[in-house]
Amino acid sequence: MAISRNALVAGNWKMNGVSASLAELKAIAEGVAGGAAGTAACAICLPATLLARGAEIAGQHLLVGGQDCSAETFGAHTGDLAAEMLRDSGASLVIVGHSERRADHGETNAVVRAKAEAAYRAGLTAIICVGETRPQRDAGDALEICGAQLEGSLPPGATPDNTVLAYEPVWAIGTGLVPTVDDVAAMHAFFRAQLKALLPHGGDALRILYGGSVKPDNAESLMRIDNVDGALIGGASLKAKDFLAIASVYA
Ligand code: 13P
Repeated sequence: MAISRNALVAGNWKMNGVSASLAELKAIAEGVAGGAAGTAACAICLPATLLARGAEIAGQHLLVGGQDCSAETFGAHTGDLAAEMLRDSGASLVIVGHSERRADHGETNAVVRAKAEAAYRAGLTAIICVGETRPQRDAGDALEICGAQLEGSLPPGATPDNTVLAYEPVWAIGTGLVPTVDDVAAMHAFFRAQLKALLPHGGDALRILYGGSVKPDNAESLMRIDNVDGALIGGASLKAKDFLAIASVYA
C-alpha cells in the first residue's frame, strides 16, 4: 500500500549569507506562511552565524537548521558546534554527511552516523546525505556505492521523525546537471527497499529527498517521481523567488 509522506522542501545555504541575506529568509518565511508550499514542510539550513537571528525571522511556518554538527556533546573541540548548540539557537534539523563535508573534511560513514546520533540526542532531525561521484556512476556502481553509504551512515535508532535521507549525486551539485527521471526513480526505489529492510517499523515512512541542481524549471518533474519526498536545494534556495517557486510544486 502506498504511504503518504509529508514532503520536505529544504534549502542549504552552504557558506553563503551575511546579515543582509536575512531579507531573503524573511521573504521565504512570508511566502511559506502564506501557503506557497501547501502542506509541505519547508526549512532553510543556515550558516551557524545566522541561525539565532534566522530562527526569529523564520517564525512558526519555516524551520531552520544547521549544516553540520559535531559527533561530541560539549567540550574541548575548538571551532566545532554541538548539536545542542544548534538546537539552542533555534534549529530543528541539521544536515550531516553532505558530500562537501565528506570530501573537504574526510568524513566517513561512521563519522556521519555518529553525527546523526548526536543530532538525535539534541532533539534535532538529521538530514543524512548520500550520493555517488561521476566516475562511480559511469562505472555502473552508483547503487552499490550509495547503498553502502546509507547502510554505514544510518543509525539503528533512525525513525521517520528524526531522520530524512537526501540523495545528492555529487556530479549534480552546483553543475546544472541532473540525473534522468528513470535514474532518480531507480535510486529512490532502491533506497526505499533498503530502508524497509533496515528499519522494519519506519522505513516506509522515512522521507527521501532529491538534491542536486534542483531549480524552478525542473522541480516539478523531479518531485513527481515515486519515493521522492521533497528536495534539498543549494543555489536556488538563496533567492526567495526561486525557493518559493520550487516549493510551490506542493501547493
Ligand atoms: P545545488 O542545488 O546548488 O546543486 O546544491 C545542492 C546541494 O548540495 C544541497 O545540499
